[in-house]
Amino acid sequence: MRLTDCHNVQDFRQLAKKRLPGPVFHYIDGGADDEVTKARNTAAYEECDLVPSVLTGAENIDMRTTVMGKEIAMPLLLSPTALQRLFHWQGERGVARAAQKFDTWFGISSLATVSIEEIGATVTSPKLFQLYVHKDIGLNSSMIERCKAAKFDAIALTVDTIVGGNRERCLRTGFTSPPRLTPSSALSFASHPHWMLNYLCREKFSLPNLDTHVAEGSNVAISVANYFNTMLDQSMDWKMAETIRNDWGGEFCLKGIMSVEDARRAADIGATAIMVSNHGGRQLDGGRAPFDQLAEIVDAVGDRLDVICDGGIQRGSHVLKALSVGAKACSGGRLYLYALAAGGQAGVERTLDNFQTEIERDMKLMGARTVKDLTRENLRWR
Ligand code: LAC
Repeated sequence: MRLTDCHNVQDFRQLAKKRLPGPVFHYIDGGADDEVTKARNTAAYEECDLVPSVLTGAENIDMRTTVMGKEIAMPLLLSPTALQRLFHWQGERGVARAAQKFDTWFGISSLATVSIEEIGATVTSPKLFQLYVHKDIGLNSSMIERCKAAKFDAIALTVDTIVGGNRERCLRTGFTSPPRLTPSSALSFASHPHWMLNYLCREKFSLPNLDTHVAEGSNVAISVANYFNTMLDQSMDWKMAETIRNDWGGEFCLKGIMSVEDARRAADIGATAIMVSNHGGRQLDGGRAPFDQLAEIVDAVGDRLDVICDGGIQRGSHVLKALSVGAKACSGGRLYLYALAAGGQAGVERTLDNFQTEIERDMKLMGARTVKDLTRENLRWR
């Protein structure tokens, strides 16, 4: 199987599975507990059908949309995700260049393997920093100041991760950051010599946005769940979110909002966007899917902030359904991480190209010339 054989997200997933040592693949692919919510995030889209309009003269499609004050070429954002140089040596650099080529938002995590400064200096398309609030207050303000200096376009405060989700695949494989060989995982690493060679011979693994303050994750191997449980501030509340919003002062997104009440409070504290998200089903299993919550959230706050529907997206038609309900855009993590693992920047470009082509084709088939033509009139629930 090669990159040119990858026509959809599942194809990239298969190739990623081949290319990555088991612990790394299962870290990306896995969810919490029984992974019911992870599966539901995609399944939710299949309970709603598109109803096309015909003879609309939809020869030329304009799929641009404006999110957090920036016009982007396609209504799909690359959600910030952690540890990307473990998935492919190009890591965040490759993802950023692909996002730039397709002129859409991309984000780096607090747990990114490339620094805020480097991304700020090299990426011209809209960029977002995903903030995890740590117990170390100095670390939080240092990250915010660094984002200001590097001219990031937005901060997304993660609100669904005050403790680590129960990711049983990671428990079984013993996945840590940085990766550690264990008796049970040694064979899996050894049987991926290409990955091993890149990991050992290229730039040393690090988490440059954290390692000024903490050794864990960069120099001391720790599981992601342990990292969250010991490092993050579990007392985070609305007051703190508002303070961070004011310290930052720019476009501000709350990532991980699922209820109407919280969406209203996000608007009240001055958030300019929310990502309706359950962290890809990696945190609270049994939680509802973003697409299932979207309509009531859009009805409540759609005129006060940008609503982004995150997670479970595997097809252009999923994006069309979320936009028809009223999302400004969709976003996803695994949808480009599989592609990154499968082929670096070229993989991410290929998946973005697939999505762009699917969205354009489906908009034509729906008779929608612009994203504004997509409304709830186009949808029926079963
Ligand atoms: C995760 C975090 C790091 O889901 O976003 O693993």
